[in-house]
Amino acid sequence: MEFGTIVVAGASRGMGLAVAEHLQPRTKRLVTVSRTQAPVGEWIAADLSELNGVEKVTHTIGSDRLDALLYMGGTWETHAFTSRYSFENCSDADITKVIAVNLVAPIHLVKALLPALRRSDNPKIIIYGFPLRSRQLFWTRSSQQSF
Ligand SMILES: NC(=O)c1ccc[n+]([C@@H]2O[C@H](COP(=O)([O-])OP(=O)(O)OC[C@H]3O[C@@H](n4cnc5c(N)ncnc54)[C@H](OP(=O)(O)O)[C@@H]3O)[C@@H](O)[C@H]2O)c1
Repeated sequence: MEFGTIVVAGASRGMGLAVAEHLQPRTKRLVTVSRTQAPVGEWIAADLSELNGVEKVTHTIGSDRLDALLYMGGTWETHAFTSRYSFENCSDADITKVIAVNLVAPIHLVKALLPALRRSDNPKIIIYGFPLRSRQLFWTRSSQQSF
């Protein structure tokens, strides 16, 4: 074993699952978080865009010493990464959901887990992702064109 206790958020599939599978053989206590079942680790069913989802994680960690928090979860707007994607046509609900999962949730999770991270001699926080899909969100003042 190389690691003590690690939390991987967004571990049911994709990048988070790949990272969790990589860490599992070398981690004493691997806690995985997602809404649908994660096939590895000690799985917590939680929607991290809701505060009670974050509380479930802190409750599970309890008085343990947390060596690393890896936030690999993410969601995107409808039609993201397709030619049908348009920032202007995204619903407000879509944008709110994406910001809640990709930006607000990791902030809440880090804050809630700080006491457990402070118990580790060498704690790490890794947050992987980007708040919104859209490069169209960023405008240059001079050209007023998206890039
Ligand atoms: N894949 C790539 O090539 C790539 C490249 C660059 C950056 N990224 C970034 O990496 C991150 C993950 O990407 P991915 O491709 O692995 O995505 P993915 O396959 O869709 O997996 C997303 C993970 O996040 C979890 N999740 C989503 N909403 C959640 C919520 N409300 N509460 C808790 N867990 C939630 C999902 O679990 P449940 O649905 O079961 O809750 C799932 O485990 C994203 O931020 C993305 O921007 C990915």
